[in-house]
Amino acid sequence: MPSTSVASVPKSPPTKKRLTIYMLESVLVDDQVQMAYDYMLPLVEEIQPTQANKISWITASVSAESARDINMADLIHESVKSYYSSLESSAALQTSAACPVVSRPLSPSVQQALTHVHPEVCKRFFGCGLVAPEKLRGCSVLDLGSGSGRDCYVLSKLVGEDGRVTGIDMTEDLIQASRKYIRYHQEHFGYAKPNTEFVRGYMEKLSDAGIQDGAMDVVVSNCVICLCPDKRAVLSEAYKILKVGGELYFSDMYASEVVPESFRLDPVLWGEGMGGALYWHDFISIMKDLGFSTPRLVAASRIDVHNPELREKAGDIKYASGTYRAFKLPKHSIQTTALVTYKGTVPDCAECFELDASNSFKVNVPVEVDAEMAAILQYTRFSPDFIIQMTDKPDPSLGSAQQYCHLSPFILADRLGSCMKQCSKTGVAAGSCG
Ligand SMILES: C[S@@+](CC[C@H](N)C(=O)[O-])C[C@H]1O[C@@H](n2cnc3c(N)ncnc32)[C@H](O)[C@@H]1O
Repeated sequence: MPSTSVASVPKSPPTKKRLTIYMLESVLVDDQVQMAYDYMLPLVEEIQPTQANKISWITASVSAESARDINMADLIHESVKSYYSSLESSAALQTSAACPVVSRPLSPSVQQALTHVHPEVCKRFFGCGLVAPEKLRGCSVLDLGSGSGRDCYVLSKLVGEDGRVTGIDMTEDLIQASRKYIRYHQEHFGYAKPNTEFVRGYMEKLSDAGIQDGAMDVVVSNCVICLCPDKRAVLSEAYKILKVGGELYFSDMYASEVVPESFRLDPVLWGEGMGGALYWHDFISIMKDLGFSTPRLVAASRIDVHNPELREKAGDIKYASGTYRAFKLPKHSIQTTALVTYKGTVPDCAECFELDASNSFKVNVPVEVDAEMAAILQYTRFSPDFIIQMTDKPDPSLGSAQQYCHLSPFILADRLGSCMKQCSKTGVAAGSCG
């Protein structure tokens, strides 16, 4: 903690607005953090450094006028960058900013691809599980918050030589680390030219990073969106850069109710992902509002908060991890129900294709599906894998108020009876089922 700056700042009256900026002790000397600190200093009237749970943070009192000049989103970005720059390996993770394991069993292709990823890349993997939907050959895929690139290199193998993978991350250090192994994986996979690139930028501003609108077949993300101050901006950008028929498939941490503002300003809760987690119902509403198909829940597990201090802070709010998938469908494509028959042609799914936790399609067994599912199967990359007969029956659920209980990660987690180990070393996690 740079004590000279702290000591020189006079105390403010208690009525002033309080801001909390959290930074890991180990990175406080980092240039980026120093910049954020310098940026704050002229605006604040009191800075109070505090330390707990290996996290140091600064509580600053600012006048209401100065508060308007402080862009909290920038400061959160800076501290998250510094945090991830400082981590040499996933073993050094001091908080559960990365979310818990939440995935279905890995398919044989994914398991096989994973064995090819360079150990140095795996060492700095800060997500959990793996976000790789089915049937990616030839696709353009964007990974939001790609870190050291582990998921991108798995995807590089899955999309094949004619596919394309782009990782975007705001942390320069991780971008450099991921780029180091592009040639290694290209040669390892036997590709004539690389199919993977890493760009530095913000997920909230994909076009500034050179990602074109309507360019991607699939967007994935592994435990990153809960770290972003503006989730709606991230999801809206993802929608823009997807092709029509494209898919967003990602895992993240969700809350059982709206997280109060005080949680967002609490350094430990933010660092653990608990301050930034979206209420799952709000997530569904945002996605629908942006034009996505109703998000489909693929996998979920409850997060047990074992650390007594954090459990007390969380109060009645519960947390779960969830993997959702949602599609960008053509406008007005959701019309009538359909009779669909799976052909058994999706790779690794010869007997049965599980689109989500509630919809699985057995080979050669006709199933009647609602209008939205009919549109998903008709207009996405899964279309050649189904025989689709539109029924001309209007969907009775269209136009009526939608019930989303079946999309709650809490309900699915309880149904699956799963409660997986979280990555945290600090105790938000633990392996027992609640
Ligand atoms: C928990 S790590 C996960 C990294 C990667 N997905 C993995 O599985 O190893 C979070 C990553 O998201 C990046 N990140 C967080 N917020 C971001 C933002 N707004 N824009 C771009 N990258 C961001 C961080 O730099 C960090 O690399």
